[in-house]
Amino acid sequence: MSPPHVLIFPLPAQGHINAMLKLTELLLPAGINTTFLISTKDHRSLSGVHSRLNSYPGFRFHVIQGLYEGPMDTAEKLSVMFDCLAEITPPLLRNLILDFPVTCLIADGIMGFSIDAVEGTGVPVIFFRTISACAFWAYFNIQDLINSGELPFSGTNMDERIVNLKGMEGFLRQRDLPSFCRSDINNYTLRQVSSITRRSSDAHALILNTFDDLEGPIISQIQKHCSNIYTIGPLHAHLKSRSLSKSKSSNSLLEEDKTCIGWLDQQPPKSVLYVSFGSLATLTRDQLIEFWYGLVNSKKPFLWVIREDLVLSKDDENKVPNELEKGTKERGYLVGWAPQEDVLAHPAVGAFLTHNGWNSTLESIVAGVPMVSWSFYADQQVNSRFVEVVWKLGLDMKDTCDRTLVERIVKEVMDVRKEEFTKSANRMAKLAIESVSEGGSSYINLDRLIEDIKEMGV
Ligand code: UDX
Repeated sequence: MSPPHVLIFPLPAQGHINAMLKLTELLLPAGINTTFLISTKDHRSLSGVHSRLNSYPGFRFHVIQGLYEGPMDTAEKLSVMFDCLAEITPPLLRNLILDFPVTCLIADGIMGFSIDAVEGTGVPVIFFRTISACAFWAYFNIQDLINSGELPFSGTNMDERIVNLKGMEGFLRQRDLPSFCRSDINNYTLRQVSSITRRSSDAHALILNTFDDLEGPIISQIQKHCSNIYTIGPLHAHLKSRSLSKSKSSNSLLEEDKTCIGWLDQQPPKSVLYVSFGSLATLTRDQLIEFWYGLVNSKKPFLWVIREDLVLSKDDENKVPNELEKGTKERGYLVGWAPQEDVLAHPAVGAFLTHNGWNSTLESIVAGVPMVSWSFYADQQVNSRFVEVVWKLGLDMKDTCDRTLVERIVKEVMDVRKEEFTKSANRMAKLAIESVSEGGSSYINLDRLIEDIKEMGV
């Protein structure tokens, strides 16, 4: 009998590709062949990982032509991508299934329409949501919040509590709901995200990059609607625990500036604040300057990822005040893109100022690094609330970024409450590692997933 063959189809964005490539590298050694669907641009950008992946005989990329390749930093631009995918996915998947025997499709759950695309072919669809269980659950309940009258928001007090979200009653404020909830309830992206997430109940199974000790109560809520769930994360730690991480497992679409590791080597233990807002978030010029003053005034050494497209600014506004240049020369190090997993694992890093994208959040958890949260959009608002209130891994400065607050919160996490946050971060890191070690929940769930796929046959 020929080995199972799985199609893996991520949303073409760094955070999604990263997680789904990691899943691919967990499936290949178990004898599951995979075809990974990718855009022309991302395929080119991943040239550094081709040799690693091509060393598996059962692996191949399938390059998709004609995908939207613009930015995705707003709900509207995300919708352009969804619409483009919804149009090209059905013929693409049907042709692939005609060309090769396909055991199952593992599609990014944000592309709910892939279920319709393969309908009638007999190919089961497993959804992989690259977000947290808590953000998934918030998305899943958007329609219920509309039905109960909590959406749209009635007043202007964003601190008002949300009461009708099962499992999260009373501790989410309006500002902690996914950012799409801030728009009109007939907003196209809000409707898309809500209905797409509901489609997860129609899939054969749902994979989540999380672990039971982190999100158990929310996972139980989801289970009532999606009975077949595989929580197999944190995936990057899972790869390491199974010794499957071939040398470095970085899946960066941008070139990593590794010189920052040399700079970190010269800093005292736990002294550095690492700052990164992931691959999609943008800052206004004012926000950049407020963060910058906050960092310099905190007097902490800082390593800051300033992507080429991070700041929305006009060319004539690019001058940086002298005191910021001076403070940065004394204590800062700026890079365009960092080897993030290595940075977070470095002994010099004491805290992470993050947008709480789910990959970054998990990477911080595994490294035992406390967080200062400044969520940008989508799922990140929910994640940052959980970081502060449920997991107690840091502080959330949501929706505010004036220099005084940045300075105060950084000092709070790295000095005033350092012991408390370090203790809970170490505790959660231990649980994360246990979950992906032999006998741990994620380890067992991955074995179940592999068996499930093998039993589907070709
Ligand atoms: C997006 C969404 O924003 C996020 O909320 C969602 O959960 C997944 O998709 P992104 O914003 O890029 O992703 O954030 P995140 O999920 O944190 O992923 C960023 C990835 O890029 C991480 O794996 C991180 O290690 C990597 N990275 C980031 C680098 O390798 N170098 C950097 O300098 C910055």
